[in-house]
Amino acid sequence: MQEKHWTAVAHPNIALVKYWGKRDERLNLPAVGSISITLDTLESRTVLQVNPNSTQDEFIINGSLAPEHQRIRIQDFLDLFRNHTGQSLYFIVNSTNNFPTGAGLASSASGFAALAVAANAAFDFPFSQQELSTIARQGSGSAARSIFGGWVEMHRGEKADGTDAYAEPLLSPDEWPVSILVCITSEGPKTVGSTEGMNLTAATSPYYSAWVESQESDLTAMRNAIRNRDFDQVIDIAEFSCLKMHGLMLSARPGLVYWNGVTVDIIHHVRQLRKQGIPAFFTIDAGPQVKVVCLPEVADTVEGSLQGIPGIRRIYRTGLGPGAHLVDAEN
Ligand code: PMV
Repeated sequence: MQEKHWTAVAHPNIALVKYWGKRDERLNLPAVGSISITLDTLESRTVLQVNPNSTQDEFIINGSLAPEHQRIRIQDFLDLFRNHTGQSLYFIVNSTNNFPTGAGLASSASGFAALAVAANAAFDFPFSQQELSTIARQGSGSAARSIFGGWVEMHRGEKADGTDAYAEPLLSPDEWPVSILVCITSEGPKTVGSTEGMNLTAATSPYYSAWVESQESDLTAMRNAIRNRDFDQVIDIAEFSCLKMHGLMLSARPGLVYWNGVTVDIIHHVRQLRKQGIPAFFTIDAGPQVKVVCLPEVADTVEGSLQGIPGIRRIYRTGLGPGAHLVDAEN
């Protein structure tokens, strides 16, 4: 007999005003707010199936049994639902990504957002969308943003319990479409994970307090730029925030160097495109991949020109996508 199951889909997101640093590690509370766009095309698909007569969750990722530390991370996350509802339901969690996992493409954001939505259905919807965003945050900071589609803002929050550290939508994908070219420059796994990198930076960088203090003005400027559909302003603030974050990472001790040579080649290439009047910008997270964002009318030109850069292994082209959502439930 097929046990009860619930399936949810979520997409990765890319921050335009970056998050780096935690104000509370246990609750995974960010030291700064952030603004992101949620992608389409790339997705995590997560199926929860009741694991009858068990007091343990099982976790299968891309068809293979996950290592124990990952299984525990999933079980701790599902405990948030069990503790809140008092229901001791355990699951077989089967999650697949249609893009490389753990390679700097935000698979933890889409993975935890999909898991949060599927679990919310399995526990009979105890949480609102806003609460679900605070729950997803506890799996991965950026997962809070993938609960919503399009242009999204994540609030740092002030409260110690984290109930005001949630994301909310700014504009839907249709209200201001853009194209994203995700350039893969290395297929290898991350060198230093985001939590470890954030802790090292906060503990050792002389620039850390300036980073935290200057975030509010970037958020305000980006919010206004998005509201006014001012792409030139978005370009300016997004590249500033990205390079400021990488400057901060470089100033940790030992410095965090997430880029490779091709990463740098793409930065110069995108700036060259702009000199030719093509509105596009780059953004880079805790890894060597570069995401190039442009208006849809120039996406063919930008993609064609990126294909000429030696060392780019592959390019994924996406637009803006929806928030995490349930696609199937069989009770
Ligand atoms: O979601 P985390 O904890 O992996 O942190 C994400 C950090 C960056 O991707 C570098 C920036 C961001 O805001 O997504």
